[in-house]
Amino acid sequence: MNDHTPMKIFLDTADTSAIHKYFPTGLIDGVTTNPTLIMKSGRDPEDVYQELKDMGISDISMEVVGNSSEMIAEGSRLYEKFGKCCTVKVPCSPEGLYACKQLSRDLINVNVTLIFNAAQAILAHKAGAKYVSPFVGRLDDNSISGLEVVRSIADLYCRQGVCSTEILAASIRDVHRVTRSFYNGAHIVTMPPAVFGKMYNHVLTDKGLELFDEDWSKVTSNSGPSFGSFSQLQEANPGNELKDVMQKVRECSS
Ligand code: E4P
Repeated sequence: MNDHTPMKIFLDTADTSAIHKYFPTGLIDGVTTNPTLIMKSGRDPEDVYQELKDMGISDISMEVVGNSSEMIAEGSRLYEKFGKCCTVKVPCSPEGLYACKQLSRDLINVNVTLIFNAAQAILAHKAGAKYVSPFVGRLDDNSISGLEVVRSIADLYCRQGVCSTEILAASIRDVHRVTRSFYNGAHIVTMPPAVFGKMYNHVLTDKGLELFDEDWSKVTSNSGPSFGSFSQLQEANPGNELKDVMQKVRECSS
């Protein structure tokens, strides 16, 4: 059974320092990795997965490669080692979908990646995928609207009453495509940490905060005991973890 919490956010990275930075916000529901991201991290993939599991990430996409027997063997081994947090990621190829069918029969969650149209999403659902990952950015790069592909899969699944396969929008390059992916029916959006950081930003929030800070200092300097400005309050509470996290988020997204 899928957890149908609306609008899940995954981080699309194998950079554990970025995940350490953002996971304490409490807004991150999972992590997706791929061979390129693992290569960029310069680390052994299983060290990365272990660190993410120890951090408490409950859904980690771990990509497998090779022919179907190799994918099945590797996916089963990873599931055996990492347990329920392991989602095996396979490509939307005949070999990958065959592996998906076998792994999902063994109740292992599978993310079918490299999805570029609704026909592939039909096959992935029939192969028992828990997630299908349409690549929004790479479609846009090829002059096909990635968001339209997300919408066509969502409409199709809705018409056919599919609820065992969720749409995980991937290859996301900006905040606009995060919101539009959800609007177009994605259940999950996986995004680079920098894009997640930018989701907090709005110039009017910054201006409003500045004004509230100013006015708060006036209120507290006019009457009663002085509590200081928001910034002073923050400094006076160095142990307040949420404020530390928010500070890190601001530093990262500025
Ligand atoms: C996600 O599962 C994919 O691995 C990832 O989003 C690909 O993104 P890219 O097109 O930016 O490489």
